[in-house]
Amino acid sequence: MTRHDGFPDDFIWGCATASYQIEGATQEDGRGVSIWDTFAHTPGKVAGGDTGDIACDSYHRYLEDIALLRELNANAYRFSTAWPRIQPEGSGAPNQKGLDYYDRVVDALLESGIEPWMQLYHWDLPQALEDRGGWVNRETAYRFLDFAQIMFRHFGDRIRHFSSLNEPWCVAFLGYLQGVQAPGKTDRRLAHRAVHHLLLAHGLAQRAYRESGLPGAFGIVLNPARQRPATARPEDIEAADRAAIESTRIWLDPLYGRGYPELFMQLFGADIPMEEGDLDIIASPPDFLGINYYFEQAIKAVPVDGQHPYGCALAETWHPKTAMGWDIVPEGMLRLLRYIAGTWPVSELYVTENGVAFDDVPDSQGIVHDANRIAYLRSHLHACRDAIAEGIPLKGYFLWSLMDNFEWAYGYQKRFGIVRIDPVTLHRIPKKSFYYYRDVIAGFGL
Ligand code: FCB
Repeated sequence: MTRHDGFPDDFIWGCATASYQIEGATQEDGRGVSIWDTFAHTPGKVAGGDTGDIACDSYHRYLEDIALLRELNANAYRFSTAWPRIQPEGSGAPNQKGLDYYDRVVDALLESGIEPWMQLYHWDLPQALEDRGGWVNRETAYRFLDFAQIMFRHFGDRIRHFSSLNEPWCVAFLGYLQGVQAPGKTDRRLAHRAVHHLLLAHGLAQRAYRESGLPGAFGIVLNPARQRPATARPEDIEAADRAAIESTRIWLDPLYGRGYPELFMQLFGADIPMEEGDLDIIASPPDFLGINYYFEQAIKAVPVDGQHPYGCALAETWHPKTAMGWDIVPEGMLRLLRYIAGTWPVSELYVTENGVAFDDVPDSQGIVHDANRIAYLRSHLHACRDAIAEGIPLKGYFLWSLMDNFEWAYGYQKRFGIVRIDPVTLHRIPKKSFYYYRDVIAGFGL
């Protein structure tokens, strides 16, 4: 069927999830403890005391999840692998039962004609590595390399798209500065050390993948931002540019061989545990860049102080908000894609996450009539289509998320799924947005 909706015939239509958010079975088949087990089980860290102990039980119900993807006729599924299932202590020989689980998932996807996109790391670091400093410790980058190589050797024959890290900004700044995600530390210097080791981990794994001679593509998934200035005053424009240093440029500049941004080095260079050769390891453009987009922020200039090292702060906005309190700004997605494609020589872009949480109210049949989610998806897909029309190399879109799941520090109360999970039975019940997305994938327009 030829499409008439502005998307190319070979556009990738997918859904995304992450291991700790959906799998459950945290104590089964030799899985080790992750930092998210520890964090969620620490009173006061996660809303409602929720944990990922059971989550969507995808460890046992993955065939139901894959059946849903088939019903959508999705052609790809981005899921992540729990490092502590493979290496319970974060190092050493792989746990066969952990590999077996992902074999079952990968093979079932392939049998269904759905391409598995393997996200190696989506935040569930083995606790044993955190006990030695986690991402603040350089050793973690080398342990990640070992883990990645296990995965390449075992899955490289079947996986054509590997990505290294999911949203390293969140790992570093939410995990080690703001403390709202595992491991819950609050020290800017630690966050900066983590930045460097995360980039190093990506670089080491990417180099190993290329050297392996495997035929697939290797990428990284970021949540970059292009904050807009609150006004057209030069000081706000400059402040917005400075805001993008931490969210975006400290990641993309080193990856594309430009080193860390100058202002970042001036302010925080002393925090970076740079060793000779590190920037060369990092400076190798990924085959594809994954972009997670949820919202856009407005920035105003403020005096530099300890809280505002870049002299910028969030400005008030007018947009309607999601249940997360995030502004709904579909045009911000187009602005971001333009900025990325216009600033770095990216070869292939994918929206690896986009979606929305609303306070869904199921009807008496358990069905959610989520016209608000449909409107969100439609407007953001319009932005994708506009990006393609402008020549931006956007090749695919992964909706976050296939189903309601453990939304990190917000627990189960924030629902991003196009499939509802019954909180008691864990039955999967497609929302109306599920059928909307099915029709989009089928080519019936937005
Ligand atoms: C992203 C995360 C993903 C999910 C969405 C809502 O930052 O990558 O796991 O929590 O936000």
